[in-house]
Amino acid sequence: MTGQTFYWMGTRISFRAGESLAAALEAAGIRTFGLDTLGQETRYFCGIGACQCCLLRVDGVVREACITQARAGMRVEALEDRHD
Ligand code: FES
Repeated sequence: MTGQTFYWMGTRISFRAGESLAAALEAAGIRTFGLDTLGQETRYFCGIGACQCCLLRVDGVVREACITQARAGMRVEALEDRHD
């Protein structure tokens, strides 16, 4: 694997400079991001940060995948993966 990577559920995902998390995950074949706190499946939808359908955790903080720029070494997880 070449280039910069972040971690999605412990798996390295490559991205291009300036790419959003949602775009990088989509390019890696990941189209759903797990369940939110209400049990609804999260996914890419509006792409502008309005619908909140793509929420996930980035280094422990809830973010929208579609408007969060990928950075090397980020730890990205589904919302339901955290038990606190
Ligand atoms: S896809 Fe709507 S907020 Fe990200």
